Amino acid sequence: MASLASWTLVRANREQTIESRKRNFHEWNRGLNIDQYLKLHDDLDIYEHAADAKLNTWVLVDRNDPSSLNYLCACETYRRTGLVATSGGVKEVTAYAVASVYTPVVNRKQGYARQMLRLLHHVIGIKGGLPEFPAEWGSPPSSEGFGDGKFSILYSDVGPKFYTTCGPTPSAPGWIVQNPYEVVWTLEGHTDGDQSRVKLLKDTDLEDVLAKDAALIKKEMVGATGPCVSFTANNGVNNYLVQRSIFRTVLTNGRRADAWGAVLPEHERQPFSFLTWTPDPLDFTITRLRADPESLPVLIAAAKKIAAERKAVEIVAWAVPEGLQEACKVLGGVQRTRTNHLPSVHVYDADGEKFEWIHNEKFSWC
Ligand SMILES: CC(C)(COP(=O)(O)OP(=O)(O)OC[C@H]1O[C@@H](n2cnc3c(N)ncnc32)[C@H](O)[C@@H]1OP(=O)(O)O)[C@@H](O)C(=O)NCCC(=O)NCCS
Repeated sequence: MASLASWTLVRANREQTIESRKRNFHEWNRGLNIDQYLKLHDDLDIYEHAADAKLNTWVLVDRNDPSSLNYLCACETYRRTGLVATSGGVKEVTAYAVASVYTPVVNRKQGYARQMLRLLHHVIGIKGGLPEFPAEWGSPPSSEGFGDGKFSILYSDVGPKFYTTCGPTPSAPGWIVQNPYEVVWTLEGHTDGDQSRVKLLKDTDLEDVLAKDAALIKKEMVGATGPCVSFTANNGVNNYLVQRSIFRTVLTNGRRADAWGAVLPEHERQPFSFLTWTPDPLDFTITRLRADPESLPVLIAAAKKIAAERKAVEIVAWAVPEGLQEACKVLGGVQRTRTNHLPSVHVYDADGEKFEWIHNEKFSWC
């Protein structure tokens, strides 16, 4: 095996990006053929979550051949606005979501993905929040145009251990799993409840609702009891899941969903309450939930009704807040620990303070 110093991490050029999608096609095509898969990515690239270079592919390469298609492994990052709450207040920051970590089968188990992700911290993380770059890794990768991330997240599909070993030095921890719980409601025996108060949300309604939610999240974080970080679902973040689902439906001649969430009218006794979802029958998931024990039953009933119409067998909500757990139980929701999509976070903080990642619901996934 070559020494760690002989590799570096570079932002992929267009050819390397397409090559990475061809390579990971077998892993993540979910029934699409290769042309459909490449088109899906191209079509998604123009949306807000990815546009203006917010989406980048990174490749681990031989230092002497950085634009080669014969690179070792790849991953993607999405640049997003995040929020950080500390005793000093709430700040908007830049943060990153890491996705599509992939090593071709022939290159596996040689330490490539681990080294790629270790180097990635030194590209995206703010300098003040990183330890010194290890000398044995050679010269650091370029962070030009990056180096501004206060935190980064990913969803592990390879268990809780691997990503913890991918820190910014050989001994520093990488991404740590937090709150990998979900609540599940089965639709067996489901009958529609009273839906008269609920307004269903079209895809075009979502951004306004989520922008209002984002403003509230920012305000509420002022009262956080400890240091925490969060994303918000507006600015195209949740819309990634919506567009992805729409494109897949079109490509596979499925039935396009009309409803993407539900909202309740606000009045004195009813604060702003809504939920959004991805309507795929095999994976009907609530992407963002803002409710109290009073509004929860009618919102869950709305989700169940649409899920049943789409022939889903269950609905799932990730990271339900503590204060809603009991109300979920009363509605037949069962809490379980996820074994995939494990939410994992790394905060670039010189003091090594422990931050909680709040609102790590499905909207954040990529
Ligand atoms: C996960 C993956 C990127 C690792 O790439 P790699 O270059 O072989 O990784 P490294 O050699 O740096 O590290 C190997 C480690 O991967 C971990 N790993 C790989 N697949 C795993 C799995 N399915 N479950 C748990 N751990 C796994 C192991 O911890 C292994 O550790 P070991 O060295 O102690 O055996 C690669 O297996 C892959 O592309 N898998 C398919 C796509 C995928 O699942 N990506 C991750 C999505 S979150």
